[in-house]
Amino acid sequence: MSNKTFYITTPIYYVNDVPHLGHVYTTVAADAASRFMRSSGRSVMFLTGIDEHGQKVEQAARDRGLSPQEHCDEMVVRFQRLWRRFNISNDDFIRTTEKRHEAIVQHFLQVLYDRGDIYRSTYNGWYCVPDERFWTEKDLLDGKCPDCGRKVVEIKESNYFFRMGKYQGWLSEHIKANPDFIQPETRQNEMLGFLRKPLGDLCISRPKSRLHWGVEVPFDHEYVTYVWFDALINYVTGAGFNVDEDRFTPLWENSTHLIGKDILTTHTIYWPTMLHGIGLPPPNRVFAHGWWTVEGRKMSKSTGNVVEPNLLLDVYGADSVRYFVLREVPFGLDGDFSHSALVRRINSDLANDLGNLLQRSLGMLGKYREGIIPAPKGGKDSGDLEKDLASRATVTLKDLSAHMESLAFDRALKSIWDLIGAANKYIDSAAPWALAKEGDDGKLDTVLFTIFEAIRQVAVMVSPFMPETGEKMFRQIGIADKHELKSITSLDRWGGIAGGTRTFRGPALFPRIDEIPDVPAAGPAEKDNSSEAEVSKGVEPTMDDNLITIDDFAKVQLVTGKVLEAENVPKSKKLIRLRVDTGEERQIVAGIAENYTPEDLVGMNIAVVANLKPATLMGVESRGMLLAASDDDGIHLFTFNGEVKPGTRIK
Ligand code: MSP
Repeated sequence: MSNKTFYITTPIYYVNDVPHLGHVYTTVAADAASRFMRSSGRSVMFLTGIDEHGQKVEQAARDRGLSPQEHCDEMVVRFQRLWRRFNISNDDFIRTTEKRHEAIVQHFLQVLYDRGDIYRSTYNGWYCVPDERFWTEKDLLDGKCPDCGRKVVEIKESNYFFRMGKYQGWLSEHIKANPDFIQPETRQNEMLGFLRKPLGDLCISRPKSRLHWGVEVPFDHEYVTYVWFDALINYVTGAGFNVDEDRFTPLWENSTHLIGKDILTTHTIYWPTMLHGIGLPPPNRVFAHGWWTVEGRKMSKSTGNVVEPNLLLDVYGADSVRYFVLREVPFGLDGDFSHSALVRRINSDLANDLGNLLQRSLGMLGKYREGIIPAPKGGKDSGDLEKDLASRATVTLKDLSAHMESLAFDRALKSIWDLIGAANKYIDSAAPWALAKEGDDGKLDTVLFTIFEAIRQVAVMVSPFMPETGEKMFRQIGIADKHELKSITSLDRWGGIAGGTRTFRGPALFPRIDEIPDVPAAGPAEKDNSSEAEVSKGVEPTMDDNLITIDDFAKVQLVTGKVLEAENVPKSKKLIRLRVDTGEERQIVAGIAENYTPEDLVGMNIAVVANLKPATLMGVESRGMLLAASDDDGIHLFTFNGEVKPGTRIK
């Protein structure tokens, strides 16, 4: 790209339905690209939003007994809230009912009308209601919609038309002359094939007698604008077209639309001709990604397998889902979602490769240097092994940048994981434990420094994909507030991390998942129509259903305890056996080994359920239970500040 600007958009999502995995996919992809480009010093504009007009939305509102605007105002919250949960860093969020957008839609219509590119005629053809698309007789496949295969209805009415057909030759030439315009290449060929048939004109209005919910046509108040004509324009509204040309021009010259493969024609045939008609160039690039099936089947409400993103977030956390969708399939191809595939990725790539690199390194640093990163002895890249790792990081950065430029997210992640593999291998070859044993302090310092610089570089690289993980890693390696060390631009030299940095060992980044969780699919359609407060209803019962009396609560004997002794239960990944003083000494077995080491626990003041029936876990008796909270970071034990006498009742 010629300059440093990067403008990326997602489709604006219909609000006739709640968000699902398909919506998450494009938005997460656009977010990872935006974060990467920002971190690389580019000036980024990332736009997403919702498509509020049209028959489908009007119908959905009617079904709920709401006005379309009321319906949209409720639905928008679901999208915005979901994007917050996924840490989506969009710079703007556009709604097609906003005045700024309606003004631009009307501007487009008026200019095209004044230029004679819009005319009125009687329409006679076939209409696919779910897709909101008109088709001619010859477009139909076996009498059905050629896009979705559903039945179409015959329609005859007077409408306004955009002279799209007249731009057919220009568009074919444009596509041929700009091989990067439509990506991947297969989609470009598909569209060139489409353009070999004569291109008709586009019906761009709907009579108000049939549909009210749309942008009024400025030159005929009896009509509203066809929803696709309205929706596509969001991409220029959001960039400041006709309002702030200085802002708009560089954004538009560097624009990328991410879309799903099903909306290719609207984006690469309708849209460029509309733009050409008013004298604007087409977007720089339209990239169509593939579709997700679920456990091998098409995701659909009737099958009952729609993946509800809020439930995925509750179970796996944002970063695991973000990683999975971008790593699992090449952007552009179809993919299959399954919980087993997701768990496999979490356990192998995230827990084993990435998580383990950090844990083992912090463990060694704690053991040999009290958690403080030493300055390297004899230069920052003294030995061959160190030089190899540093040059591997340089190559990774180069590959990563090239893959991100071409939106090859899977390959970008693969190159980062090659670096993680190289760092793990470096640790094995440099063997800090042997150096410690031999007392080779100088070399040990260099090795530990090298390991932590590699971890820093990995943290910077994974951040655009997994922003929470990146921050956790920065925190643990002690550079949370060192912004100059956290961007892609800081990777142009090896050795940014400073000797003397104090690290903070935290819980495992990604605890292993031993059993495939049982995550329900989204509920039936009627239940989807709830407001923000009810979004997670399927997951947790409401407070009212669960109220207990004070007497119920008093049945639980909660007491303070002090950990006297702790050790891992042999052959168990999760269990730790504790000897706890709760006024009397007792043995408790707790499943916290993925987040706490026995050393962390000794001396801790904790809260214990004292009157729980004893249980035997892996052959070890447990009398009581520790109180803890668990979130995306893992398990956090409930502790007290200062000393409280063991056995004190908690009420
Ligand atoms: N409102 C239009 C877009 C207008 S853009 C100017 C629209 N909205 S949508 O909500 O129906 O779909 C939005 C996106 O979700 C599309 O890009 C579509 O490809 C994508 N997906 C819907 N189901 C999907 C999968 N199962 N898998 C991946 N993406 C899918 O179309």
